[in-house]
Amino acid sequence: MAVDLLLGLQWGDEGKGKIVDVLTQNYDIIARFQGGPNAGHTLIFDGFKHVLHTIPSGIFHKTAMNVVGNGVVIDPVIFKKELENLEKHDIEYVSKLLISRKAHLILPTHRLLDAASETSKGKAKIGSTLKGIGPTYMDKTGRNGMRVGDLELENWKEKYDALTAKHLSMLNYFDVQVDYNLAELEAEFCKGIDKLRTLQFIDSEEYLNNAMKEKKTILAEGAQGSLLDIDFGTYPFVTSSNTTAAGACTGLGVAPNKIGEVYGIFKAYTTRVGSGPFPTELFDEDGATMGRVGNEFGATTGRPRRCGWLDLVALKYAVDINGVTQLMMMKGDVLSGFETLKVATSYNYKGKEITHLPYNIEPENVTVNYTEFKGWNADLTKMTSAESLPKNLLDYIDFIEKETGVPVKIVSVGPDRKQTIMR
Ligand code: GDP
Ligand code: IMO
Ligand code: MG
Repeated sequence: MAVDLLLGLQWGDEGKGKIVDVLTQNYDIIARFQGGPNAGHTLIFDGFKHVLHTIPSGIFHKTAMNVVGNGVVIDPVIFKKELENLEKHDIEYVSKLLISRKAHLILPTHRLLDAASETSKGKAKIGSTLKGIGPTYMDKTGRNGMRVGDLELENWKEKYDALTAKHLSMLNYFDVQVDYNLAELEAEFCKGIDKLRTLQFIDSEEYLNNAMKEKKTILAEGAQGSLLDIDFGTYPFVTSSNTTAAGACTGLGVAPNKIGEVYGIFKAYTTRVGSGPFPTELFDEDGATMGRVGNEFGATTGRPRRCGWLDLVALKYAVDINGVTQLMMMKGDVLSGFETLKVATSYNYKGKEITHLPYNIEPENVTVNYTEFKGWNADLTKMTSAESLPKNLLDYIDFIEKETGVPVKIVSVGPDRKQTIMR
């Protein structure tokens, strides 16, 4: 069987956690392929809200196996907390959570370097979640990193000490003050490692390729969004991994010809948390309404998310680079009550009207041309069938399908697992 992918098409927080949870009933295995605890994936069902950072969003189902792939970076301290949250809800995970030996570890000093780097950038800061993501992927590509498989070596602590010592000397390079207590950080890290060791470490590429041969169904879960991709995102205001479809191949060891459906998920509007350009951002009452009704606060950092209109120029770009075969539109309910809705359909760039995403999308380089739509005023959150959706919403969806050339197969009308309409 092929591997299906689910990934975010905007700047993250599209609702990946919710939809992976909904789709898990159709899959034997859910596998995360990149990112780390910078992600916050929210799942709501049976009156409880769960936020997962590194653990795949299939973990609440009885039989699905969950794999943390080689492309993921793991902070044992945060991972331990995630596991303890599962224990609080009596979720058995030991038998259904597998960790790639090739996944890299986030050391406490990676987090310190992240903080020093951000502080030293001043106004030009990325707006990182400060989870140590950038420094850990730097050590990976710089061939200095520590991997989960290293924990099986007798001298793992020596490796850890050597890398930590290097990081501490690097901290001196930054002309900023970072306060820390190394002994405390290490004690916490070692407890996290002990907890991680209660799980099974595997060669996940072999596991997944064997599973495909045995005709098992696999869903790869992305983190962040396409516009945060290290290559194709709004560099340098991006994360440090490939969040796009190609990242699933390298992050799991799945060949490109083994990819099946590519589910692209987007909000009916746009949000972004952290710094960087955002052409359709709103600074008025409409943006404030989206933030308030959509409860737009980061699931990992609690920061308010910036809000704006749907950007079809950017969405079409994301559809192309990912080869999206099915779209999923989230949070349509949040737009109920707007008299008029706007969708970005072209940019003005260097004196010309263009419909592709150019190299520079800062405000001094692009202005946006919008197409307007009539809004709808209905409570979508109780609707359960596509037929019951308001006509103006269906027109909005039609337009998106025509522009992207891809069908919208799921319309999400609320945060709960049940508030999901299949088309
Ligand atoms: P992820 O990172 O892509 O998994 O998304 P997050 O969990 O960070 O953010 C999505 C937020 O929107 C969460 O608070 C979800 O509970 C919520 N959410 C998801 N789908 C819907 C929807 O259709 N309507 C509303 N109102 N909220 C939604
Ligand atoms: P999920 O999986 C939204 C953003 C940060 C910052 C930039 C770099 O929940 O959609 P990093 O910590 O990676 O160094 O931050 O990327 N960012 C996210 N924004 N959702 C996420 O994940 C994000 N992960 C990172 O805000 O702008
Ligand atoms: Mg999130």
